[in-house]
Amino acid sequence: MKKQSVIYFDHAATSWPKPPTVGEAMMSILNGQAASAGRGSHNMALQAGRIIFRARQALATLFHISNPNDIVFTSNTTSALNLAIKGWLKPGDHVIATMVEHNSVRRPLEYLKRTIGIQVDYVTVDGLGQLDMEEVRNSFRPETTLVVCSHGSNLLGSILPLHEIGHLAREHGAVFLVDAAQTAGTYPIDVAEMGIDLLAFPGHKGLLGPQGTGGLYISPHVELEPILHGGTGSQSEELGQPTVRPDRYEAGTANTVGIAGLAAGVNAVLEYGVKQIYERQWLLIQKMMEELAGMPGVSLIGPKRGEPRTGLVSYNVAGRDAAEIAFLLDREYGIAVRAGYHCTPLGHMTAGTSAGGAVRASVGFDTTEEEVEAFVLAMRQISAQ
Ligand code: ALA
Repeated sequence: MKKQSVIYFDHAATSWPKPPTVGEAMMSILNGQAASAGRGSHNMALQAGRIIFRARQALATLFHISNPNDIVFTSNTTSALNLAIKGWLKPGDHVIATMVEHNSVRRPLEYLKRTIGIQVDYVTVDGLGQLDMEEVRNSFRPETTLVVCSHGSNLLGSILPLHEIGHLAREHGAVFLVDAAQTAGTYPIDVAEMGIDLLAFPGHKGLLGPQGTGGLYISPHVELEPILHGGTGSQSEELGQPTVRPDRYEAGTANTVGIAGLAAGVNAVLEYGVKQIYERQWLLIQKMMEELAGMPGVSLIGPKRGEPRTGLVSYNVAGRDAAEIAFLLDREYGIAVRAGYHCTPLGHMTAGTSAGGAVRASVGFDTTEEEVEAFVLAMRQISAQ
C-alpha cells in the first residue's frame, strides 16, 4: 500500500488508508451492481444480494459464527449497540457494565434507566485497565438479564477477559453483549469459545472497511425486538417485521457499496491474520511506550509495558494541554492523533484524566517502524519545550 505524507495515528477512531481492494470493490459495485438487494428478481438485484451474503460469510469466518444470517448489518457500532440494548432490555431488568464503557453503551443504558426503569452497575476497572472480577461476580442479581462490556478500552487500551465474563454471564442466565469497536479485526474473537451472545462491531476501524458500515451478531438463542421498522423486501404483506434473519433487523435499502468495501477489508484481515496484526501492532506500541516513558513529564495511561493491549497508547505531558500536544503533532510534524475526551467519561475517571483528557496515538496494520520513529522524535522535541 502506498504510504501517504501524513503519519496517521488515529486508527482507533477510523483506520486509514484502506487496502486498495476496498476502494476497488466499492467502485466496481457502484458502477456495476449497486441495485437494491432483496427487492426484485432481476440479475443486478440478485447480484447485490450475493455481494452482501459473501460479506456475511467473511465476517462469520472471522468471528467463528456458524450461520452468516445471524449477522445483521448496521451503519456503525453505535447503531449495533442500540439494537442490542434497546432490543433486549425490559422494565425492571438489571445490567452489569464496566467503568470503561464508551458512550455508545452508556448513553443507551442511561436512556433506558430514565425511560423504562432498568438498573445498571458499572464495575470497577483499575488504572491499569484490570476489571475487578470479584465485583463482577458479586453484582449478579435475579433480575440481571444483560452483561455488557467493551472488549478493548478506547482510552486505556486494556483488553477485558471475555472468556471469564462470558462464563459468568452464562452461569447466571444473562445475555453477554460485547462492544468490539476496538478489537474487531485486531484481536482474535471467537463468539462460541468466549460465550458471546451479541457482538457489536464497526466496519471502519480494524476491519478496514469504509465508514457507515458495522454490524451485530445475534446468537440464535437470543431474540431481540427490532428497533427499526420498515421495508425489507420479504414478508411484505405482514404488518410486523419479518420473523426471519437477517431481514428482521435490516429495514431499509442496504448499503451494498459500503458492505462490498467491508467484505474486501475483512478479506484483507483474514489474509494477513488477526493474530499477526495484533502482534505487529503490539510491538509498535511497546516501542512507543518505552520511548514516551523516558521523556520529561510524560505519563502513560493503561496497562504496563509488556502487558496485552490494543494498538493504542494514551498519555499526558505534565503542565501541558492534551489538545496543544495534538495540535503541535499535527501542524508541526504532520502526525494525526486524537486528543481531549474520548467519549468515555467513566474511562477518564478510571484513568484519572477527567480534568483534561489525554492524547491518544493509535497504529494500524500497515504502520511502519519509521513512522513510529518520526512520532518519537516529534514527541521528544515537544516534551522538551
Ligand atoms: N469511538 C472512536 C474513538 O474512540 C471514535 O475514537
